[in-house]
Amino acid sequence: MRIKKAVIPVAGLGTRLLPATKTVPKELLPIVDVPAIQYVVQEAVDSGVDEIIFVTGRGKDGIEDHFDESPELVQVLEQRGQKELVEQLKAISKMVEVVSVRQKQPLGLGHAVLCARDLVGSEPFVVLLPDDIIDAEVPCVRQLLEVFEQTKESVLALRRVPKSEAHRYGIVGGKAMSERLCQVDTVVEKPQPADAPSELAIVGRYIFRSEIFSMLEKVAPGRGGEIQLTDGIAGLLRERKIFGYEFSGIHYDVGDKLGLVRATVAYALKRADLREPLKKFLAQAVNEKL
Ligand code: G1P
Repeated sequence: MRIKKAVIPVAGLGTRLLPATKTVPKELLPIVDVPAIQYVVQEAVDSGVDEIIFVTGRGKDGIEDHFDESPELVQVLEQRGQKELVEQLKAISKMVEVVSVRQKQPLGLGHAVLCARDLVGSEPFVVLLPDDIIDAEVPCVRQLLEVFEQTKESVLALRRVPKSEAHRYGIVGGKAMSERLCQVDTVVEKPQPADAPSELAIVGRYIFRSEIFSMLEKVAPGRGGEIQLTDGIAGLLRERKIFGYEFSGIHYDVGDKLGLVRATVAYALKRADLREPLKKFLAQAVNEKL
């Protein structure tokens, strides 16, 4: 069975990036000249997904607009002969089918995913968190889908982090099945280092069987008074197997100031037109500080 739908929760307030996010959705902040959300949608599309379900909130309409047509802008650019830009804009609006549902109150990530229940239906689906950008040769979601195709069970993207960073992630414990694959047996949301079951942190890419919804429905407000996705995963774990996969690729947390700067520099260095002048600038800037 091919997984066709991906849920992307975009109702988050982006408080770590205020004041930039006072009026601009954090998902639209640029990494060089591409809004962060476009990388995330591209990953889903490159992995074979053909419908994106945005779980949105107030002030987030710009995200859907970004994937819509822009006839006025296209007309002006056509008149000016800027064909390349016209093609780029048209490609974005044709990228993928987009639908949305509102999360009316900020009740947590688990609640956001639950809001997509009717749009997802009873098939397995992907969740991508827009704070996580993953630069990988094989898209991270594609790597997880390969595990799903073999196991037919839910799959979590994992990366190793030092225990001192465990408080920023959901951390799993489990049994190694092969070099990158494990069968999860515990999951703890943002533990203190001493309580972390391992160094394996969940990064924001998940494949879920639809049973996750009935689990999320039963989840009571947990850490921070929010309905945590991790608590839904813990519930699912009591009924079904869940696998974790240490994906290959570089992860950036672009919901965080340093992560956003890192991603910006890394992606700029990949661009032929920016690489050399940026390298020169960075070397100079670092030397001046030393
Ligand atoms: C969420 C999840 C957490 C996961 C993280 C990945 O936390 O609750 O389990 O490790 O995403 O980015 P957030 O970053 O939204 O606080």
